Amino acid sequence: MDILTMVLRVLHIFGAVAWIGATWMVVFFVEPTVRALGPEGGKFMNYMATTRRYPLYISVTAAVTLLAGIVLFGIHWGPVWNTPMGLTFLIGGLIGIAGGVTGGMTGGVTGRMTKLGGEMAQQGKPPSPEQLAEMGALQARLRSLARVTAILTSIALFLMAIARYV
Ligand code: HEM
Repeated sequence: MDILTMVLRVLHIFGAVAWIGATWMVVFFVEPTVRALGPEGGKFMNYMATTRRYPLYISVTAAVTLLAGIVLFGIHWGPVWNTPMGLTFLIGGLIGIAGGVTGGMTGGVTGRMTKLGGEMAQQGKPPSPEQLAEMGALQARLRSLARVTAILTSIALFLMAIARYV
């Protein structure tokens, strides 16, 4: 019985489900809803990021997926990386890591949005045009980074799913 591989596979696959599921949820449902709600959407986003700690959740699920995947690859596929199966896991893994990088970049944008949202809420007067423009630019950047992350992680998932049968 290979307990280490079983534990790593459970961590890798549960992590991937939690990470990709949340990314799709944000791209297809949360972000469009937040945008449609305007200032109320900003409050929703703020609560999700600070009280519910969404950035922490997404960082942990991504890190667990990637680290467990890298160790699994090292144990089982490193020595045979140049077989069709090994190569498919390798290319999928590299694309998944790229998704981890773009996903990590969303953390910085979310942090700035949360800080700016807090300043706007506490200043006791309506937001200035500069603040609104910065918030709009941050939202657009978050939108594109989240989409790129969803695409990269989905390609990685696709390649991992077919790797054993190529
Ligand atoms: C978005 C990122 C990722 C997703 C969604 C993902 C998803 C999956 C899934 C669903 C499986 C099960 C497929 C099967 O065993 O037939 C799997 C297996 C595997 N993944 Fe990933 N993965 C990701 C990232 C990575 C990374 C970065 C690596 C490192 C190179 C990696 C290496 C592996 C390996 C080696 C296996 C097979 C494990 C074994 O030998 O049983 N994965 N992955």
